[in-house]
Amino acid sequence: MATGTEPPQQRPSGVHGASRAAIAARHLRTDRWWLAPAGTAAGLFAFIVYSTWRAFANADYYAAPYVSPFYSPCLAENCQEMRGGPNWDLFGSWWGLSPALLVLIFPLGFRLTCYYYRKAYYRGFWASPPACAVAEPHAAYTGETRFPLVFQNAHRYFFYAAVPVAGILTYDTVLTFRDEHYAWGHMGLGTLLFLVNIALIWAYTLSCHSCRHIMGGKLKHFSKHPVRYRLWGWVSRLNARHMQLAWASLISVALCDFYVYLVASGAFTDPRIF
Ligand code: FES
Repeated sequence: MATGTEPPQQRPSGVHGASRAAIAARHLRTDRWWLAPAGTAAGLFAFIVYSTWRAFANADYYAAPYVSPFYSPCLAENCQEMRGGPNWDLFGSWWGLSPALLVLIFPLGFRLTCYYYRKAYYRGFWASPPACAVAEPHAAYTGETRFPLVFQNAHRYFFYAAVPVAGILTYDTVLTFRDEHYAWGHMGLGTLLFLVNIALIWAYTLSCHSCRHIMGGKLKHFSKHPVRYRLWGWVSRLNARHMQLAWASLISVALCDFYVYLVASGAFTDPRIF
């Protein structure tokens, strides 16, 4: 018999919590909702496998005038010689691993903490939730309030790091207008690839939600800040395409690296346009 003094029962939280609709079915969707998270997981997994192989390879990342975006800037003494290129020996000779590992942490951290990628890999890899209106299999939900996901809040700082990295990749792109003997006035198929890649990298970087907030956040009156209002408007237009830019720039950066790999390994000769 209940006395009214029993300890409160442990109720499940998350989608099975008392405050949620008591629907037994996991979802009521009739479409192929699983296609999007499955495709996202497959795409991200392919990139993770490819980039891990290339980052640890420590070879075939430079074929004058092209340097792989995975290895730029190259900050260790064991970097390949790149005349006028982004090989700045800041770490000295003690670093014996692949120099890509020194720089990839910044673009990797930028993408890992990106609002879009968070949604993509929470759905694709952790099914949290798998899709809109589909219950997740986890019993509890704590969001991003605890370790380690609380570090997602560092995204703004990764944005600050991503801007100079994009600047260095721009420098690399300018250098692709040299030929293999470092004479200016060259353009190859690689130059075109690098131009497309850097345009996508900048578009993705500037479409960042943190960038949008930096441009237009914390203002009471846009009318008193016309320059910031205009910048916010431009970034907002890019921001509406953030997902597409995230994928396009991810693919273009991998393609650029693969192109450099092919040329550097001798498997392909860079066709000359002029
Ligand atoms: S929100 Fe995606 S890069 Fe900042």
